[in-house]
Amino acid sequence: MSLLKREAENILLNNRREGYTLPTNNKLYPAQWNWDSAYIALGYSYFNKEYAIVELEKLFEGQWSDGMVPHILFHHKDENYFPNHNTWQCGDKIPSSGITQPPIVSSILKLMLDKHEFSSSEMERILNLVKKTKNYLEWFYKFRDPNDTGLVSILHPWESGTDNSPLWDFPLSKILIEENLEYKRRDLDVSSSDVRPLKRDYDCYITLLNKFRNEKYNPEKLYDISMFNVADIGFNSLFLKACKDLVYIATKNNIECTSIEKKITKTENKLISLYNKGDNSFYSFDVLNKQSLEIPSITNYFILFADLKNEEINNSVIQSLKKYNSNEKYFFSSIKPDSKYFEEIRYWRGPVWINCNWILYKGLLEKDLEFANKIKSHTLDLIHEKDFHEYYSCKSGTPYGANNFSWSAALYLDLINN
Ligand code: DGY
Repeated sequence: MSLLKREAENILLNNRREGYTLPTNNKLYPAQWNWDSAYIALGYSYFNKEYAIVELEKLFEGQWSDGMVPHILFHHKDENYFPNHNTWQCGDKIPSSGITQPPIVSSILKLMLDKHEFSSSEMERILNLVKKTKNYLEWFYKFRDPNDTGLVSILHPWESGTDNSPLWDFPLSKILIEENLEYKRRDLDVSSSDVRPLKRDYDCYITLLNKFRNEKYNPEKLYDISMFNVADIGFNSLFLKACKDLVYIATKNNIECTSIEKKITKTENKLISLYNKGDNSFYSFDVLNKQSLEIPSITNYFILFADLKNEEINNSVIQSLKKYNSNEKYFFSSIKPDSKYFEEIRYWRGPVWINCNWILYKGLLEKDLEFANKIKSHTLDLIHEKDFHEYYSCKSGTPYGANNFSWSAALYLDLINN
């Protein structure tokens, strides 16, 4: 175990650049990614608190003046990634993408504060990050829920973090792909096309990007003009928990946070309204096309992480999760293995991802400790057997995508310290 611990630490250190850490060192993702960095900071907090804080400070250096934290920060103008800074053409202080990602950073800050002692100067820096996180969460309510429904929308599949999930097949099928679209993917230079999104997915991603760039990423406009607008269960669960965790930290540290506090109940109730009792499942909602997205995705179970104050629903969801991929050796597959949408090795359409297991583990800790521990030991075994990769087949455990994957290493460090 301790050899693996050292390996995990070394992965983070080797992937570290000037103050931030790449998701992997195999050239697939040569920049700083938003939710990757949050997980990575948690990993560092177990052996280098300074690096943990700096990682998040670097992330917030790229925060836009309206509060948004982009999903990618291009600290170095590496043209081997597509779409790079030349395509996005935006960023306040740092060239960046013009969209965001799940704001898990708020929950990571809470976990770090719960777990470790910090000096007063470190505390000052962390509380500074907490204030910036508050602006970030306010940005979601203001620009991603302009009609005050309680749920925030994602306007691009990349914002979900689960890029090519079958969840997005229907909403993307409604998009008219831009004519004469020309671009060159770089991911296929370093990763096999069998495990990556399809051309049709990329055509949609870039059509959306171009549209947003034409509008200069004006957040006042994007909600209405985007051809993709989904209230995703996974995203809203992480968002709701982010709000709860922010309020918790703010209250403890006398930081004014009423804007977020006032919204939480509405978001919680609205999320509950997306529960389908017949199927015992939560389903995302396509806001633009007014349609429920009935796809058996593991992200529907992130609702457990949101800590709903509804024991009956939580228990039913736990029972359903126990059956989710009971026939496969490795869990949890990103899409239910017996579903017609399942693809064993294609990115977010089937493989097991360490961060999904970790989110469910955390969400279960206070609801079903035995099950939480089972997920933890199973996840540790998978890493022990197959090492720190981006994702794995649920049937054979075979790893795919990038190796030396930072969040797998970082979350391993959290799991062994719990
Ligand atoms: C990619 O390049 O595949 C990323 O997931 C986009 O965020």
